[in-house]
Order: sequence, then C-alpha cells, then structure tokens
Amino acid sequence: MTTPKRALITGITGQDGSYLAEFLLQNGYEVGGMVRRTSSLNVERLASVLDKIKIVPGDLLDVASLVEAVKTFAPTEVYNLAAQSFVTTSWNQPEFTADVTALGVTRLLDAIRIVNPEIRFYQASSSEMFGKVREVPQSELTPFHPRSPYGVAKVYGHWITLNYRESFDMYTCSGILFNHESPRRGLEFVTRKISHQVARIKLGLAKELRLGNLDAKRDWGFAGDYVKAMWLMLNQDQPADDYVIATGETHSVREFCEVAFARAGLNYENYVVIDEEFFRPAEVDLLIGDPKKANDKLGWKPEVSFVDLVEMMVDADLEYCSSQI
Ligand code: NAP
Ligand code: GDD
Repeated sequence: MTTPKRALITGITGQDGSYLAEFLLQNGYEVGGMVRRTSSLNVERLASVLDKIKIVPGDLLDVASLVEAVKTFAPTEVYNLAAQSFVTTSWNQPEFTADVTALGVTRLLDAIRIVNPEIRFYQASSSEMFGKVREVPQSELTPFHPRSPYGVAKVYGHWITLNYRESFDMYTCSGILFNHESPRRGLEFVTRKISHQVARIKLGLAKELRLGNLDAKRDWGFAGDYVKAMWLMLNQDQPADDYVIATGETHSVREFCEVAFARAGLNYENYVVIDEEFFRPAEVDLLIGDPKKANDKLGWKPEVSFVDLVEMMVDADLEYCSSQI
C-alpha cells in the first residue's frame, strides 16, 4: 500500500485555495488548510470540501505557528497561496503587504527547512512582477519591473523561493501566474466587480457600474485550470523549476465589460461610469503571458476561453443575486 500524499495549503479560504483543495482531494490527497484566526470563520468557498479537509491554525506573520502547522500536519507538499493579494490595498498598507506577501514566504520556507526540507514547496508568484513590461509576451526570462508594493513584495517572494532551492537544495517551485478568475473571485477584483454588478443591474438592484481604467489589458484565465498547473509543478521527475501560467491572449477591461453586459442582454456603454477613485498611482497597462514552457514541459494548457469565462461569471452572479432577493 502506498502512503497517501499530504498537501498543506496556505490561503485555502481564498479563490485558488478552494479550487486547489477540490482538485487535490479528487486526486487522492489528504488536504490540510492553514487558516489564520479571525473573529468569524470565513469558509464559504470551501462548502463542498469542509468535511474532507483538516483545518490547521497558522498565520504567515508568525513563524512559530508555521513551524507548528508543518510539524503537526506533516505534509509532503506545501502550496503557499496566502497573501495580501489586492493590488490597490498594497498602496494603503505597503508595510503590511511586505510583511505577509514577501517576508511570509521566508517564514514558511524556514519552517519547512527546519521541520523537513524534503517537503516540496509551491510559491504563488504573479505576472504583476512584470509590471511595466520589458517585452511582449512575458516569459520566464522577462526581467521584472513591478509597479505596486504588492508587485515588489511578490518579486521578493519569487527570489527567496529560488534562493532556498539553490542554497538548501529544496524542491521549491515558483508559478508565475497571470490573472485567473472564477465565480469565487473576491468582489474587489475588476472581473467579479463587473459580473456581480451586471447581475444587480439586470435584476433592477443597481443602475450603474463605476470603474477606473478601462484600457488596462490582462491575460485572463480560469482559476480551475490554473490550480492544475500548481500541482503539475510539484509532481515532476525533473528538477524544480519556475513556470509562466497564462492563456497567451490579452483583453481590455472594456472588452470584459462588453462581453459581460451583452451576456445579460445589456450595452455596457449605458451603465459604465468612469470614476477617478479607481485609478491607480502606477498602472500595469498590458499583460500577456507566453505559456510555452508549461505547455512543453508540464503538458499544461488552459481549457476555458475568455468568452466562456466571462459568461460563466455573469451566469453565476445572476443566480447568486437572484437567490439573495
Ligand atoms: P485571495 O482570494 O485573496 O486569497 C488570499 C488568501 O490568503 C486568503 O485565504 C487569506 O485568508 C489568506 N491570507 C492573507 N493573509 C494571511 C496571513 N497573514 N496568514 C495566513 N493566510 C493569510 O487570493 P487568490 O486569488 O486565491 O490568489 C492566491 C495566491 O495567488 C495569492 O498569493 C495571490 O497573490 C497569488 N496570485 C493570484 C493571481 C490571481 O489572478 N488570482 C495571480 C497571480 C498570483 P483570509 O480568508 O483569512 O483573508
Ligand atoms: N479592482 C479594480 N476595480 N480594477 C479596476 C477597476 C476597478 O474598479 N477599474 C479598472 N480596473 C483595472 C485595474 O486598474 C487593473 O489594471 C485591472 O483592472 C485589473 O485589476 P484587478 O482585477 O484588481 O487585478 P490586478 O491585475 O491588479 O491583480 C490581480 O492579478 C495579479 C496577477 O497579474 C490580483 O489577483 C493579484 O493578486 C495578481 O497577482
């Protein structure tokens, strides 16, 4: 009999954490989800798996809790998805963002190094590291130029992950993931803000949608596709490596609005209002990734198209908002 694999996921209460937990359970894993203490438990996204996972207390700001989490759950793989992940908040709370999103990675790597350096480690790096892009499309070899305190913190997390691989011979991988969305996306991110408000407008609960820069372009994929790439990275016979995960297509926020409103039979031009409040001190104008390495070496490719993703999100929000009336 083979011993089951055990995965500890930090950030399990977030969008990606919930999809990854479902995927790993389907693949025979025992799953532990690290959750920080809050005044009320935030596990809505985990509804379908809550009775199948083990909740492990821990906080990226507290190394003792991380050592304890790794020691007690004894994982074979750790997926570090926890972060202060909203770019706008990173300008209001730059020090906190650095503490969680940058130094938190070192704390977790050290906990693993101390408890069991054989554990395989995945770091959630980001296309936000490319920022003011140096080449189009962006690949694993494109230099970084982050444009937000969040992006800067992710660059640190990326390099410390490589450094622990090179310094301590640990199996640490960094996935440079481009934007990925789903009906479980937080309401503050632009895609979910749009799909949710389209549903409210359609149902007569709202009259307008206030947005910032409609010309920003992103390479948007489906979160359910992207968590498979995380798992593939940690389950290779070849040495640990870093991979860009993207669709290779880019679309503007305006295009996202166009498709989302059209799905509800509406014209976005009649509802979208430009509001200075949602512009950023420094913008990332264009992201488009080159997923060739992941395709060639991991056999990974995205399955959900841009239009299908937008329509999936609008349909889910129409159902969700109708159920709230
Ligand atoms: P998300 O929905 O914002 O989830 C973030 C998670 O981190 C939540 O579970 C949150 O817990 C947890 N967390 C925050 N601070 C913590 C702390 N101090 N200790 C422990 N847990 C903490 O993010 P996501 O969209 O799933 O993204 C997952 C990861 O991928 C993040 O690192 C993000 O930066 C990165 N990433 C995301 C994308 C994307 O497009 N989604 C692209 C590239 C990289 P609470 O529920 O308690 O707040
Ligand atoms: N959030 C938001 N709200 N964004 C807006 C709005 C608005 O009202 N109006 C326009 N935008 C533009 C932003 O200026 C940005 O250019 C784009 O929409 C996408 O913004 P977000 O959805 O907030 O995502 P992000 O690209 O800044 O960051 C996400 O993707 C990164 C990967 O590239 C997050 O998930 C990060 O955690 C992730 O690393």
